[in-house]
Formats: sequence, C-alpha cells, structure tokens
Amino acid sequence: MSDDARPEIRCPVPHGDRRRTAPPGESATPRVEVVDGVWHVRSLPMVRQVLREADATVQAGFSAETASRGLTGDHVPVLYADGPEHRRQRSATARFFTPATVSRRYRDLMEERADELVERIRQDGGAELSAITLRYSVEVAAQVVGLTNSDIDGMSRRLERFFSGPVMHPTGSSASAGAPRRLAGRAGAVVGSLRPMWAMNAFRLRDVRPAIRARREQPREDVVSHLLAEGYTDREILVECVTYAAAGMATTREFISVAAWHLFEDDRLREEYLEADEPARHAVLHEILRLEPVVGHLYRRTTQDLVLEDGDERHEVPAGTLLDLYVRQANADEHALGEDARQLCPERARPRGVRPEVLSFGDGAHRCPGGFIAIQETDIFLQRLLRLPLEFARPPKVSWLELIAAYEVRDVALRVRAGQGWRTPSPASTAR
Ligand code: HEM
Repeated sequence: MSDDARPEIRCPVPHGDRRRTAPPGESATPRVEVVDGVWHVRSLPMVRQVLREADATVQAGFSAETASRGLTGDHVPVLYADGPEHRRQRSATARFFTPATVSRRYRDLMEERADELVERIRQDGGAELSAITLRYSVEVAAQVVGLTNSDIDGMSRRLERFFSGPVMHPTGSSASAGAPRRLAGRAGAVVGSLRPMWAMNAFRLRDVRPAIRARREQPREDVVSHLLAEGYTDREILVECVTYAAAGMATTREFISVAAWHLFEDDRLREEYLEADEPARHAVLHEILRLEPVVGHLYRRTTQDLVLEDGDERHEVPAGTLLDLYVRQANADEHALGEDARQLCPERARPRGVRPEVLSFGDGAHRCPGGFIAIQETDIFLQRLLRLPLEFARPPKVSWLELIAAYEVRDVALRVRAGQGWRTPSPASTAR
C-alpha cells in the first residue's frame, strides 16, 4: 500500500465512536487554512511532513519562542533545541528509553508500585484515580530522569502546583490567570520564568538539588547523571527536569485515566484486553491514544520555503511561517485512515509508515522518546486495576489546556460496581 493510499478495510470489530475527550469548537476541516498569517494544518500527511522536515522547521510549541528569550547558558533544553545539537542530545540519551532498557530497568518498579496502589484502591473500595495516576507517573519518570532523592508524594504535590497558572501563546498573547487557559506550554512557562518563583524554587530545592548532589558523588544510569557528565549547570539541569516532568509525568497521568475510562465502560474490550498478550494489549492502548491524543496541537516555524503535499493538493509555505498542527484531526483523518477513523478499532488498517498511535507521540526529530515507557507503565497499572469490579461513579470532568488542546481529566471517581463483591486481584497471574 502506498503512503497516500486509503485503506479499504473497515474495522472488523468496532468498539464505538465516542471520544471521551473533545475540545469545544474544533472542526475537522478545512484540511489547510491560513488565518492571520498562521497556517492551520489538519491533514495527516501534511502534519507528518512538517514534523519530519527537521532541516526546514524549528520548534515553536510549548512557548519555545518566548521561553528561549529567558534562557542563558550553553545548553538548550532538548524540547527547544533543533538541528545538529538536538540530534546529538537525542542520540546521547536514547539509551535510557529503548524498550529493552525500559523493560529491564523499570518493569519491576512499575509492577511493585502498581501492586501497591491497586491494593490500596481495593482496600478503600474505590478511589479518585487522577491522584493515584499522578503519584504513579511521577515515580516512574523520576527513576528515568534521576529524581530519586526526595519524597515522591511531596514531589507530586509540588509538580501539580507547578502546572497550574498562566503561560504564553506562541503568537505572543498571554493567557489570563485563573481562567481555563492554562496552557501546556507548561515547560516553557517555567523555563521562561513566567511562573511564580516559589513553585520553581520548591522543586529545585527539594527535588532537583538533592538528586544532583547525590549524583555528583556517585553517578548512576539516568538523565541527571548524564547531564552532569556533559557539563550542564544546576540551572540547566533544573530546566531539563521541568521538561521531563511536563512531557513525561503530566501526559502519562492523563492518558492512564482516559484509557481506564474507555476500558471500564466497554466490557467486551476490557475482557479482550485482559486476556490478550502484551503486543495485543499495547495495540489497544495505542488505538485509545490515537483517538484521545493527550497533546492536541504541535507548532513549528519554517526556516525556509516548504511545499506541503497531500495527494493532488499542494501548498507553498513561505519561510518564517508559524504552523499550527492539529494532532486530534490528523489522527482521525478519514482520507488516510478510513471513514471509521473516529471509531476505536485496535485492528485498524493503516497506510504504510503510519504508527499505531499515529501522531500522539509526535513524529520526526522531536518524537517523544518516552513512548514505550508510557505504554508499558499504563499497561502494567491497568492490568491490575481493571481486574477489580469497579465502575465510574459519575463521568469525570474534562478541562482543556487551551493552546495545545491537552486534556486534563479530574474527579475520576471509581466505586465498587453495584451488586459485586471483591475479587482479590492476583497480579502474579496477570499476563506479561
Ligand atoms: C502518554 C504519555 C506521553 C505523551 C502523549 C507524550 C507526547 C509527546 C509529544 C507529542 C512530544 C513531541 C513534542 C513536539 O514534537 O513538539 C513529546 C516529546 C517529549 N516527551 Fe513525551 N509523551 C508522553 C510520555 C513521555 C514520557 C514517559 C517521557 C519521559 C520519561 C517523555 C519525555 C519526552 C521528552 C523529553 C520530549 C521532548 C523530545 C524532544 O523535543 O526531542 N514523554 N512527548
């Protein structure tokens, strides 16, 4: 099948067409439009093309353009770096993120924490899930990054406070405090000193400083030790830790809640998931992530003229243009993924080269390095949680970080299903 060919096959076992998260007022069309000089791109082939044009574009999302004005020092944070320096940084840290490394180093920790947390839910007869997924995703990412010399509950609270507040739009307009315009230029806002200094200081003093001190004495196999070896200053390490906290912890936390939402509400899918082997379970999670991308918009700016192509359509984008890339729309692009693209179907046919989660982990040079970690930790937790006879007490509340259309799922109240007693979960018997 060619890259642009439209798949003929419809889903053999569709699992419903309801996205649990849908930001108000977002349309699937037009596939490309220019508004006030900004290009809005919704077609999958074109969004993917922009993300893969590493030599003709630079990062313009996550407040990169405002935040980088506040940066000093020799090392640009990985999220904001571009070109050869970015490629060098990514290949130097790639070893922390390979599936083999993740399985070998972090699987035991994920299993232990998931066992503990799910046992607590069992004993309590329910839970507010978003608090638990925050704790879990912070602890897993903290191991990879090397933030292991402080109290995890405290760090979770500090990071949660961190990620609420006003930040900047890439076009330069500022979001108002308190309004739901909390943007997931989260990392950018902190880097650019737009957040209250006390929030930054608490994280620096309680979490990052002890981690740096311990690794100066005894380096380990983690990101902070690697940055120290590369000569990063304490402030530069702090900035990278904030990036990982926003990119790795906040995102995975939200995804686990949304995946649990789908799976608790679809009995057949849940049973299939629990009986499946690991690759098939990961396929279910990738498909949920495709339908419910945590990061809904990415941004790039062209550094040279660029021609975007999708079938017979052709657009000439001048150098210096800001491109707003619509991940939610591209991920459900009917031209590329078939007319049932808004349905959940783990056996979906895809054009060659399109990943199962499509663009939910991005693409090209900045593609998420933590994708395998996120899917594995989600799977390990859900395998245990979904064996409890739980249901949602009410629909969770979904709010939006406006700029990147990232969802936040809160008030995820789980209670024992009516008429059900407890079955003791047996994590040891769960499939690997
Ligand atoms: C469901 C969970 C996750 C989602 C949906 C997600 C999504 C993304 C996306 C869309 C990007 C690309 C940004 C761009 O192109 O501008 C990205 C980058 C990144 N992610 Fe993830 N991510 C997740 C989990 C993680 C985890 C667990 C880690 C690390 C422990 C992580 C670390 C990073 C880093 C460091 C970057 C920046 C890479 C670069 O700019 O080169 N992410 N993520």
